[in-house]
Amino acid sequence: MDRQKQVGIGIIGAGFLAETRARCYAQVSGYHARLVAVAARTEASAASYAQRHSVPKSFTNYHELLALPEVDMVDLCVPNHLHRPIAEAAAAAGKHIVCTKPLTAYVGQDLPAGAGEQEIAQVDRRHMLAVATADAQAMVEAARRAGVYLMYGENWIYAPAITRAAGLIKASGGAILEMRGGECHSGSHSPYSKIWRYTGGGALLRLGAHPIGAMLYLKQQEGLARAGQPILPVAVSAEVGNLSRVPGVGEAEKPWIVTGWQDVENWAALILTFDDGSRAVVYASDAVLGGMESRLEIFLSNSQFKCNLSPHNMVQAYAPHPDIFGTEYIMEKASTSAGWSTPLPNEDWSSGHLAMCQDFVAAVAENRPAQADGNLGLEVIQVVYAAYVAAVTGQRVEITR
Ligand SMILES: NC(=O)c1ccc[n+]([C@@H]2O[C@H](COP(=O)([O-])OP(=O)(O)OC[C@H]3O[C@@H](n4cnc5c(N)ncnc54)[C@H](OP(=O)(O)O)[C@@H]3O)[C@@H](O)[C@H]2O)c1
Repeated sequence: MDRQKQVGIGIIGAGFLAETRARCYAQVSGYHARLVAVAARTEASAASYAQRHSVPKSFTNYHELLALPEVDMVDLCVPNHLHRPIAEAAAAAGKHIVCTKPLTAYVGQDLPAGAGEQEIAQVDRRHMLAVATADAQAMVEAARRAGVYLMYGENWIYAPAITRAAGLIKASGGAILEMRGGECHSGSHSPYSKIWRYTGGGALLRLGAHPIGAMLYLKQQEGLARAGQPILPVAVSAEVGNLSRVPGVGEAEKPWIVTGWQDVENWAALILTFDDGSRAVVYASDAVLGGMESRLEIFLSNSQFKCNLSPHNMVQAYAPHPDIFGTEYIMEKASTSAGWSTPLPNEDWSSGHLAMCQDFVAAVAENRPAQADGNLGLEVIQVVYAAYVAAVTGQRVEITR
């Protein structure tokens, strides 16, 4: 372990996720982690990020960032369709890679340039599954060939609530029989999230990837601990829908949930079957009020866990009017601070982002794989797109490898 080694981080993207990363890498302890460069699409955005976070170099061409010798690892905070090409370029440049969720997505990348939005959204879901899986496999393979780590930015795996449960599950030696979990809020405000060609899916992909990632991870760990083999998902059933089209929604002057979804779902539910016969129920919704709801329940043969990433009750507050707390941040997606609320003391900590960045830097410094790797991201993609096939066909879909 080389705690003296400086780990130079290149951030690609300068938007919402890149802000979280800057906050979290700044708090990494025990290693010299430094943001040494940033690349964004526009100069203004890259330069402003560099200034805000004291990053010495900024670019609009990520290849220039990849050419820097002081960059040891890159963190891809860019839209989904750029994950594979940038990961491959980074691997070829000998840089370790962090890729956020989803590892890949189907956005019409195999269609002729100029394919229309409608054409892309209507592509057969089996074809989407094949292309998104092949992209994810290509990323894993590119990293393997280059001898660099592909780390998967799934914060749920690192969330204190889930790591605490995982430790107790291991100690219990019990079998996980069922998991129920979901991520829900009142809707993404990014206009891109409403169109398949920009995101590769709706709530199932954008929100559902989190609980699915944690569930797959926990079953893998259980199998490895008991028999040296991960327990894997083998089949999925699913439904998707658009709840903002239910009559009565959006008729008020201000719709409280986000509306205007073009060709993606804003609600999804799926049932996952694992190769040991255990089950998981996943839900994802852009139509739930009350702030970010990220929860995972785990039912074992000898114990039970309820993990609340958000909200959790470490602090409960009451204010009769929203002006009382002024512009103070309460929690992600909370639309008001009036009434009872749960102001999160440290969302980067409780969501797992902090511990995740710590593990990624330590993995590079110690030359060992991170807890969440590219193979997990690949498994998540297979489950998500198999679920889209299941939702469209109305049939249970086997997951093949
Ligand atoms: N909890 C989580 O794990 C989590 C949360 C949120 C998002 N995400 C994921 O993070 C990714 C980005 O989402 P976001 O919400 O951060 O999006 P965002 O706010 O729109 O930021 C995207 C960034 O990508 C940059 N970009 C676009 N094309 C580029 C290119 N060719 N080269 C370099 N930079 C480029 C943009 O540059 P400009 O600023 O110049 O336009 C922008 O800064 C998505 O894959 C999303 O799924 C994960």
